[in-house]
This record gives sequence, C-alpha cells and structure tokens, in this order.
Amino acid sequence: MDATTPSTQDRPELATAPELCVVVPVLNERDNIAPLVDRLRAVLAGIAWEVIFVDDDSTDGTREAVAAIGRQDARVRLLHRIGRRGLSSAFIEGAQASLAPFVAAMDGDLQHDEALLPRMFAALRDDGYEVAVGSRYVAGGGIGAWGRTRAGMSDIATRLSRLILRAPVTDPMSGFFMVRRGTLDAAVRGLSAMGFKILLDLLASLPAPPKLIELPYEFRTRVAGESKLDAGVLRDYLLLLIDKLVGHVVPVRFVLFAGVGVLGIAAHLVMLRLALFVVNFEQAQTFATAVAIIANYTLNNLFTFRDRRLRGRRLVIGLITFSAICSVGAVANVGAAEFLFGQRHAAWWFAGAAGAVMSLVWNYAVSSVITWRK
Ligand code: GDD
Ligand code: MN
Repeated sequence: MDATTPSTQDRPELATAPELCVVVPVLNERDNIAPLVDRLRAVLAGIAWEVIFVDDDSTDGTREAVAAIGRQDARVRLLHRIGRRGLSSAFIEGAQASLAPFVAAMDGDLQHDEALLPRMFAALRDDGYEVAVGSRYVAGGGIGAWGRTRAGMSDIATRLSRLILRAPVTDPMSGFFMVRRGTLDAAVRGLSAMGFKILLDLLASLPAPPKLIELPYEFRTRVAGESKLDAGVLRDYLLLLIDKLVGHVVPVRFVLFAGVGVLGIAAHLVMLRLALFVVNFEQAQTFATAVAIIANYTLNNLFTFRDRRLRGRRLVIGLITFSAICSVGAVANVGAAEFLFGQRHAAWWFAGAAGAVMSLVWNYAVSSVITWRK
C-alpha cells in the first residue's frame, strides 16, 4: 500500500460493511466458539461477513470466549440476553441487530456444516433464491449419528409441520438456513417466535411461498457441550403449531387452558364412577370435583402457564385462589345457563354450552391475572 492510499486504520469508514450476517444462538457452548469462528473465517474468505452470537446468559464462560475473539476481530459480535430463552427469538433478535442484506441461522455446536454457507450465499445473491435451507433429507444429506427415537421424533414433527406449511420443503425443521433481509422483513411481524423451529415459523409466516432451494448436508455429531433438546422443546413445538393454526383467532394459552379443562371433565367422570362404588352420589360428586380442580390446576401449572410456574408455598396459595376462581366460575355457569334455559327458552344444549364457555373464559381471564400473574 503506498502513502496516498488511506488505510482502514486512518479511514475506519472504509472497512466493508457486512453483506452476510451469521446468527448463532448459544447456550453454554464455550468450547465450540473458537473452532466455529476459525471455520467461518476459512469458508467465508472473500465475503464481507459478521457473526452475532446470541447468548441467553450462559454460565460456562461462553460470553468470555466470544469477547476474547471479538475484541480482536470486529466481525465477531455478541448479543447478551438476560432472563430469556429460545432459539427462535434468539435468531430473530440477532438478525434484527444486523444491517446485512443476507442473514443465516446456524447452531453454535459445530453440528451444522459451515461449508454450505458460501453455496447458500451464492444461491441467494447470484441465483435469485429468497431462502436457502441446509437439508438433512434431500439426496446427499443425512442425520448423522441420531438414535432411532430422535430420528422418529424428527420424522413425526416434520409430518405435523405440513399442517401449517404451504411451501413444499423436505426439512422444515432445519435450524440451518439463509434468508434475504427483505424476505425476513416480510415475515418478521407475523412470527410466533416460540421455541426452536424458526424456519418453520418463517415459512408459515410469509404471505406467499418464497423461492426456496434445499442444499444437502450431513448433520454432525456434537463433540463439546450438551444438547438443549428436552420435553420443553416438544411443548414449544406444539404451541407453535397451535399458534399458526388458530393464533389469529384465540391466544394459544387459552387453547391450552380449554384443552386442560376437557381433560379435567374426563378426570371428573372417571373419579365420580370410581367413588360411586364406595360413597353416595353427593359425596362422590364432591370428591370428583376436588380431584378435577386439583388435576386442572396441576396441568395448567405444568403446561398452560409453564413460563410462570408456581412452586413451593406459592403452589399452595395458587391452588386456593384457583379453586376460588373456579367456584365463582361454576356458580356463574349455572346461573347463566339457567337464565338462558328458563327465561329465554334456549335449547338445553345451547344453554349448557353457553354457561360452560362463559365460565371457561372467566376462569382463564381471572386465573391468568391472579393465580398466575406475571
Ligand atoms: N440463545 C439460545 N437460547 N441458544 C440456545 C437455546 C436458548 O434457549 N437453546 C439452544 N440453544 C443453542 C445451542 O447452544 C446450540 O448452539 C443451538 O442452539 C442448537 O441447540 P442444540 O441443543 O444443540 O439443538 P439440537 O442439536 O438438538 O437441535 C438441532 O436440530 C434441530 C433439527 O432437528 C438444531 O439444529 C435445531 O436448530 C434444529 O432445528
Ligand atoms: Mn446441537
């Protein structure tokens, strides 16, 4: 470089703005950070790229590992979230923190094959595709060393996803993909942002099926750190499906609450039948009601309001407020149904269902602000 050419040291604005942002959600991935950055540097040579690690308050020194590199290399960035969880929201927020016209989602545990990134990039920039998906299920791809259970679960989840997908994709569960900024922008306000399945969420939120290409890759075996896949991921997946199916009509939480209520009625009837072997009807009905309330309470605490789950002493207090709320709901239910049936001469089933729906809405609305208040 001769003396007249400004160096980026004197003219920092000449440093190239990133064209590609790789968003990497991480939770306790300390030992995978440095190898991942090394691989990105190797495969993305020639592209103006940046990587944003979105860390949900890891406790193993992940952020320190990112910082150690990021202080020497401005392409390596960190977004530290506190009190938050979830791969999908991590990706969205990482992507929104960047101005790059192309955005990739990639795991931080080296299971995704980074060699695919330049090919995804070329497909979007040069071939006009809007989304490029790293796929395990097209010819040449694979699921690596997955056990039969995990493979079976993935298969079922993929089939279920067809309920909400319009575009034909063989691997909508993939967490490895690249998207144009404009395509992301078209979907971003409609995203459910629940749980793990961001690509599915994105595809189901777009106004029209995007121009999409699937590129095969072999899912690698994790070496360092641990998988975060647990029962919560399954629950979040079902929530995403429900939200995409009926979320524009009623909140997902209400659907869960109602579902638990239906289970409660089943539990009630089973208990009533069993108790009738031992005691008279009034006693049996009282017993079955108590069991149903406790069952409803427990299930709502575990599923419907999992994110606000009550424990210890608050679990007991919650049961008391929940029972009180449901009792009022039951009285209102009977009153409303009686009014419709007796005064308005509504059909018995209409009066009964209207009373039940009314108490369901009451129980949901009041218990979500009292029993499971934020
Ligand atoms: N920020 C953040 N917050 N990161 C998270 C969280 C979270 O709550 N949970 C997991 N991660 C990070 C992990 O640190 C890892 O970098 C990546 O997300 C994937 O998590 P794993 O726990 O390794 O997921 P997996 O290997 O079981 O799941 C993979 O397969 C799915 C396809 O079946 C991932 O690739 C998914 O993206 C993919 O959908
Ligand atoms: Mn993994």
